[in-house]
Amino acid sequence: MTTKSARNLFVVGSLICFAALIVLTIDTMSTLDKRAPEITEKVDAGKKVWHKYDCIGCHTIFGNGSYFAPDLTKATERKPKGYLKKFLWTPV
Ligand code: HEC
Repeated sequence: MTTKSARNLFVVGSLICFAALIVLTIDTMSTLDKRAPEITEKVDAGKKVWHKYDCIGCHTIFGNGSYFAPDLTKATERKPKGYLKKFLWTPV
């Protein structure tokens, strides 16, 4: 193989890989919201509160966070109905 043909192979191969990457990225971005319909705007807003007030500094969720305070994974399912709302309004 000559130097010129090796260079051409490299350039064409790189362009094909780059084009495939672009196509796959566009495909992924267009199906992202459809893959997880349970991630609503309300869930997204809750995640922002979680980060803004550093809840993870004391609590764990899905195994991530600190072990200072109770684990909050699926807390809404584990606690009686209305408990969390009452606790968060009057946490005493
Ligand atoms: C400085 C540490 C700290 C931070 C930050 C913190 N918490 Fe807590 N949280 C605690 C502790 C300690 C308890 C346990 C209190 C108790 O049992 O009386 C608790 C309890 C709770 C409970 C009740 C859990 C249960 O099983 O009874 C909820 C819900 C909760 N926190 C939510 C949050 C949310 C949401 C945030 C962020 C906005 C947050 N916490 C930030 C320390 C913290």
